[in-house]
Amino acid sequence: MGKKEWWKEAVIYQIYPRSFKDSTGSGEGDLKGIISKLDYLKDLGIDVIWLSPVYASPMVDNGYDISNYEAINPLFGSMADFDEMLSEAHKRGIKIVMDLVVNHSSDEHPWFIESRSSRDNPKRDWYIWRDGFNGGPPNQLRSVFSGSAWQFDEKTAQYYLHLFASAQPDLNWDNPAVRDAVYRMMKFWFDKGIDGFRMDVISMISKFPATVAADGGKGANICNGPHVHEYLEEMNKKVLSHYDIMTVGEAAGVTIDEAKRYANAEGTELNMVFQFEHVGIDEDAETGKWTLKRYRLRDLKKVLSAWETGLEGKAWNSLFWDNHDQPRAVSRFGDDSTEELRQRSAKMLAVCLHMMKGTPYIYQGEELGMTNTPIRSLEDCRDVEIFNAWKELVEEKKILSPAEMLAAIAARGRDNARTPMQWDDSLNAGFSTGKPWIPANPNYKTINAAAQVKDPASVYSFYKKLIRLRKEYPVIVHGDYEVLLPDDERLWVYRRHYGGKTLLTVCNFSGKKISRPSEAKAEGKLLVSNYDSLSASEILPWEGSVYLF
Ligand code: GLC
Repeated sequence: MGKKEWWKEAVIYQIYPRSFKDSTGSGEGDLKGIISKLDYLKDLGIDVIWLSPVYASPMVDNGYDISNYEAINPLFGSMADFDEMLSEAHKRGIKIVMDLVVNHSSDEHPWFIESRSSRDNPKRDWYIWRDGFNGGPPNQLRSVFSGSAWQFDEKTAQYYLHLFASAQPDLNWDNPAVRDAVYRMMKFWFDKGIDGFRMDVISMISKFPATVAADGGKGANICNGPHVHEYLEEMNKKVLSHYDIMTVGEAAGVTIDEAKRYANAEGTELNMVFQFEHVGIDEDAETGKWTLKRYRLRDLKKVLSAWETGLEGKAWNSLFWDNHDQPRAVSRFGDDSTEELRQRSAKMLAVCLHMMKGTPYIYQGEELGMTNTPIRSLEDCRDVEIFNAWKELVEEKKILSPAEMLAAIAARGRDNARTPMQWDDSLNAGFSTGKPWIPANPNYKTINAAAQVKDPASVYSFYKKLIRLRKEYPVIVHGDYEVLLPDDERLWVYRRHYGGKTLLTVCNFSGKKISRPSEAKAEGKLLVSNYDSLSASEILPWEGSVYLF
């Protein structure tokens, strides 16, 4: 069971500010827009907002490239707006968790401007500079956003490391002055009263010597470097442990064993991590995420079940289907081909995730069953990752034809998650009276909050119910997890146990009726289902039902 902590009982809602609500008509979401929707979030019942970055930024990667960690991006408003948002959220009992992006800064951050100015500048060593190797980059390391991870800088004739875009130089965490600067900045926000941090690519902050060696080698490993736990323990001692806050680390490349350290129950590092194994199961060996490959339920179940049982009693899970980097869950794991199937499968996915053990995260619009958006050409796209991948896979390596790549972008591109939040059926989905920075998904006429809030049968009302159940039944928060029928290709059936009670979750990940196996026998009290009437002998298409006995 483990310790009782507020972030275990919470449901977290992620806001991607640029696309949430525009209050000025600029076409960009903003903080005042968020304030105007706090009552909506209160009604939904969430406890915590995770706010994607709102700091000063040239927006090469939509705010994940920060040029001033202690200033608000004027695009989103002012520090006064931020303070107002925080206090208005707190008045409603909603906590705010910010994004901490400190693996890298923007190349426009004053630290980097100084660092690149000369080889002997005091901030030179705040970033990772190397000589070239044989007239090329120091080694063959690739950036997560395609191409070499090294950028040559004319002025001082050395290369700097950027694991992401070249406008996102990596900070040198081995330098104690860098760590102290980060800790000071974290305190600035905690002292304002924020309730935690989601830590961007935190598993990448410590670099392996081979990764950054100027030896022409492969440079391959970028996750879980040699000092990452040491640095997080230090951060915990110096900063985190002094506040009643929560932390979640974005931990690409993390294994279950590693996660037991990052999110250990003793609380010496972080409270939980995001792992990405389950959203990597439909990748292709050659083209990575740029593929139309559909996942297999068996793999999905296997991965998430292993995380559930692997962390039991040792560390805490975070649960998510999508976020601002993933395509829309209903389009990827469910079926958005008809209105009926979309609603049914969006609700089933919600049941499946919210009944597992861990803290559930809802990405803005997921509670409406928002879908992927039609992407027909690169003109529909805004994301630097997409443009870089196009250049590499289509233009340079020619592994994918333009048509194949476009289809893959439409299925997997991050812009799917970044179209405006669909508030109502008015112009631009009620997101903005101006021209949105990225067009709204045309299906906002049918899929929008205004319609769903008042409809007791909507996806929104269903999420509301699931969130309420979490508050009523401790087994949902604390029960252990047991998967049944692990090899079944269409059913995901699992049990949770706590205080003599059993919670049984039965999910059909297919559009077919399935005769009911004994493991999924309907007994006890039906807590929630996405069907009004169920069958004793069959599990209905995309059914998601939960029983308590
Ligand atoms: C994380 C963010 C992503 C960003 C990247 C670089 O993965 O979630 O949006 O592009 O880090 O900061």
